[in-house]
Amino acid sequence: MVNRIIYITFLLLITVFSSCNNESVHKHYRIGVSQCSGGYWREKQNNEMLRELLLHDDATMELLCAVDNGKKQIEDIQYFIDNKVDILLVSPHDTTALSDIIGKAYDNGIPVVLFDRTINSEKYSAFVGGDNTKVGLLMAAYVATKLKSQGGKVLEITGDMQTSPAMQRHKGFISGLSNSSNIEVVASVDAGWLGPRTSEATDSLLRLHPDVDVIVAHSDYMASEAKKVADKLYPDNDYIFVGADGFGSPGLGVEAVEKGLLNATAIYPTGGEEIIQTALKILRREKFDRQTLLPSYLVSTPQEATLLINMDHAINSEVERVKKMHNLAVFYLKESQMRRIMLYVALGVLTLICGLCVALYRVNTLRRKSNKRLHEQQNILLEKNEELVNMTHQLEDATNAKLVFFTNISHDFRTPLNLISGPIDQAMTMMKDNGELMALLQIAKRNVGVLLDLVNQILDFRKVENGKMKLNIQTVNLNSLVNSWHESFMSLAQKKGLNLHFDISQGECFANVDVKKLERMVYNILGNSIKFTPSGGSISLQYGLSDDKLTIAVSDTGPGIDEDKLNKIFERFYRLENSSEEGTGIGLALVKKYAELMGGRVEIDSNSDKTAGKTGTRISIIIPSVQPYASAPVSKVNQGLSPESLWVCSNLPSAQPMIQQNVTEEETRPVVLVIDDNADMRSFIGSLLSEKYRVLKACDGEEGLRLATENIPDIVLCDVMMPVMDGLECCQQLKNNVCTSHIPVIMLTACGLDEHRVKGLQSGAEAYLAKPFNSSVLLAQIDTLLKNRLRVNLFRGNAAEQSNDASDSKKPARQDTSEQSLSRYDRGFLKKLREHIEENYSDKDFSVEILAEKMCLSRAQLYRKCKALTGFTPVEIIRNTRLEHAREMLLDGYDQVSHVAAAVGIPNATYFTKCYKTYFGDYPSDTMA
Ligand code: FRU
Repeated sequence: MVNRIIYITFLLLITVFSSCNNESVHKHYRIGVSQCSGGYWREKQNNEMLRELLLHDDATMELLCAVDNGKKQIEDIQYFIDNKVDILLVSPHDTTALSDIIGKAYDNGIPVVLFDRTINSEKYSAFVGGDNTKVGLLMAAYVATKLKSQGGKVLEITGDMQTSPAMQRHKGFISGLSNSSNIEVVASVDAGWLGPRTSEATDSLLRLHPDVDVIVAHSDYMASEAKKVADKLYPDNDYIFVGADGFGSPGLGVEAVEKGLLNATAIYPTGGEEIIQTALKILRREKFDRQTLLPSYLVSTPQEATLLINMDHAINSEVERVKKMHNLAVFYLKESQMRRIMLYVALGVLTLICGLCVALYRVNTLRRKSNKRLHEQQNILLEKNEELVNMTHQLEDATNAKLVFFTNISHDFRTPLNLISGPIDQAMTMMKDNGELMALLQIAKRNVGVLLDLVNQILDFRKVENGKMKLNIQTVNLNSLVNSWHESFMSLAQKKGLNLHFDISQGECFANVDVKKLERMVYNILGNSIKFTPSGGSISLQYGLSDDKLTIAVSDTGPGIDEDKLNKIFERFYRLENSSEEGTGIGLALVKKYAELMGGRVEIDSNSDKTAGKTGTRISIIIPSVQPYASAPVSKVNQGLSPESLWVCSNLPSAQPMIQQNVTEEETRPVVLVIDDNADMRSFIGSLLSEKYRVLKACDGEEGLRLATENIPDIVLCDVMMPVMDGLECCQQLKNNVCTSHIPVIMLTACGLDEHRVKGLQSGAEAYLAKPFNSSVLLAQIDTLLKNRLRVNLFRGNAAEQSNDASDSKKPARQDTSEQSLSRYDRGFLKKLREHIEENYSDKDFSVEILAEKMCLSRAQLYRKCKALTGFTPVEIIRNTRLEHAREMLLDGYDQVSHVAAAVGIPNATYFTKCYKTYFGDYPSDTMA
């Protein structure tokens, strides 16, 4: 692109130059000049031609002189033909010999201008030269004038008679004397223009005709040579000498006339200017004369000669001045050309700078464009990167969703596993005498334990990943702990034919660790070693405390793990390729997670090179053991674990025989409402509770709510995840209903995560049990909640002891509480209850039905609500209120018991007295006293 711009600039430059330089559009003509001879006259002619050319800068000339040699002149002309001159100027040596070559040039398209002399051919373009006939006539006229009276004899010395001037001058001379009969031309001799022949011819002719009067020569040179001979031969003879040319060699022509050496000379013009002018007209295709005859005149007196000489000098000096001016003009022209060139150069440089600026601008534009493109590409890349990031997020989300799904599924496994484990426990208790069945049940129980363990590990793993796992640090005796591990794995190792060797040191070795998690880690590593070590191999365990660090290392003689897979085995769900053993890949991942949670690490060292003969793997757990770990919250609960609990999580209590409900007992037993969408779970819990409680069952929150409102149970067991209405909503509604607000709720769910627990408790539940729950724990929880329910002491008397609540009969004194501890619904209920009773106790017809109506409850609802909250039935509450008021009246001085009884709505005085005695322990009359 830039190259193109520079190229365009260069072209512009050329255009500027050429448009400014007008000369360059003119053609430059090459003129070839062929001179036949030399000598002063011809030099003058040549100079005139050159001088004329100075005025025309469109032509240059090349001059060749044949020095009177016809052959050489033919060669010279051929040279000009070969060099393709634009025009040929020829002064031919002779008329005949040069005709052909000149005709050839003419035929080749070269214009030919003949000057001074002509040829025997018409093949030329123009002729420029003196009028030689006139020259002959002028000389004849002078001779005639000089000899007119007496007449005389004349000697004619001609030029080369092969040349046209000689021919024409002779012709004109003879013709000019034709009328002068007294003048006789005694001899005409061809002296050949130059050379010695003039002297020789003059000498011999004068000797023949010494009496001649006039010697006429065709040139001043020949006239001068003839005079020399005559002066020598006949010094006393006063011959008249006439020459031609005029301006020849110094001392000849007009100068000789001025000095009296020559009598007359015919001026024969050289005509150099006219020759060039004619040639240029032809070249420029201007109109021109084919024949230009230059004028001749005769100079015959010294005065005329002097005048001519002076004129010639003046002309010459003028010519010199013109020459100088020309030189000056040339100088200025050159200077102006130089300036013009400099101007062009400046213009060129300027144009170049402009071009460069344009190029720079273009380059800049291109760069900006390419930058823009780059920027766009960068943006596209960024967008793609963002897309990739989004995709990564989506992938992460998808993976997370899968993990959440996986976790939920694991949760869901726990309920059915619990449902299998629980009944197995029950069946084992019931069938302990049936050995065969027991064995089968043990297999089932063991496998349920394995499955539960797996599910628990997965859930624990997720818990650690979510940062929800807490540490439970406690001080343990490592020796006894390791010993218990040894016992746990002994039988398994024996069954596989493995040698188990644990280095248990004597004495006491205490460490601060989360025992349950440490056991999980060790069990997973040991389990792995047992799984992969072939029969006959051995597994060993070493442990020790140093620098506040506990190290437990398990080594086996198994096949080992390839080096490139060593770190992968701690990745979750990673399973060694080609492994024949089954596994989820969660065990070792959990080991690593736990170690990190504890602020420690796991190290692995393995040799899988069978050629060396010694294969095996050593996995070491290195964890801090002194202080609670800063990285994880420490649970306040401090409870040890038995190794077995890691394998089987669900322990059912000793088998409870399914006793048919006793109808009479039914009414007195506390009512438990079980709300669970799983029918198995409902019936399993039902079977668990049926001995001690009357069990109501609902399949979802809505049904549960209905049954609870209708029956006012003593306690509600509620699952969380249920169709129609979930457990949290159900619990909330129970707690926000005045009929049911007092009922303790236990949330029972497969969701063991803390956030679910928090949600459950926030909804108002009193307790939360995660499935698989321990049956004993559940029973104990129900029992505790019933025992600890809040009850308000409504009366100051010995009313508490009066309560005849059958369910409470076996329990220690009930927990009376202030009303402030109750929920606002229950406080409101009691307030309303009191108000209605206070308003109506004096009315003997005020009954439980009326009270229930006023409280907007059914009789049964009122009964169960009052009983639960206060320990008294509504009847007891009304009656006790009446008795309390009666006592006050008696204390105030009322002495008529029957009146007092009537005043508090117990018109039957006997009945009043009986009730009073029962309630207060003394008779009304005692109070009066
Ligand atoms: C010179 C010259 C002149 C003469 C002319 C004729 O060479 O001899 O003297 O006038 O030639 O062509």
